[in-house]
Amino acid sequence: MITFRAITRADYASLVRWRSAPHVARWFEPLDLATAEAKYQARIDGTSPTRMHIVEIDGEDAGYLQHYLVRDYPDYLAAVGEPNAAGIDFLIGEDRFVGKGLGPRVIRAYIRDVVVPAHRSIRKIVSTPAFDNARSIRALEKAGFLQRTTIDVDGKPERLCILQLS
Ligand SMILES: CC(C)(COP(=O)(O)OP(=O)(O)OC[C@H]1O[C@@H](n2cnc3c(N)ncnc32)[C@H](O)[C@@H]1OP(=O)(O)O)[C@@H](O)C(=O)NCCC(=O)NCCS
Repeated sequence: MITFRAITRADYASLVRWRSAPHVARWFEPLDLATAEAKYQARIDGTSPTRMHIVEIDGEDAGYLQHYLVRDYPDYLAAVGEPNAAGIDFLIGEDRFVGKGLGPRVIRAYIRDVVVPAHRSIRKIVSTPAFDNARSIRALEKAGFLQRTTIDVDGKPERLCILQLS
């Protein structure tokens, strides 16, 4: 069973641990507790446009996801070019849940249960993994996203993946 709950400060230690896991660290900046505090408090308080959630798989914390309106981040909007879309980022931090086909199910469930209810007017979901993060791109494809082009996001090549909502 896949469920989501809003992140709290008590989750920072898990975030730090997950971000240092070898299968994650290749794709994300390292994170320590002080950085987590500084970066994520506004998301917990609701003063940031980004909302973060822990994904629980059969009741166990497995990783985290976040979502936001693309237009709330002008530089990202300029790169992505989708003003009526929500963006998502995701990771499964617990190694034992990775590589078992859960990622695409988690992504689909997050969009259905969290992102769309939060943003009823959006028509598209975008996600932009590193251009060479083949596993993430494939997971997005399995969740229904189509690969478009490689774009420049803050000087890094990322693969624009788009899900058209019905
Ligand atoms: C990306 C992630 C969510 C995918 O979830 P998952 O449960 O591992 O995904 P799956 O088990 O369904 O595997 C996805 C697909 O990638 C394929 N795959 C796995 N490793 C791969 C690799 N190194 N290169 C290419 N494809 C790969 C799998 O074979 C599978 O495709 P298939 O079912 O057609 O065979 C998860 O691996 C993760 O959190 N990784 C680390 C963090 C990360 O990269 N986050 C995304 C940042 S945008």
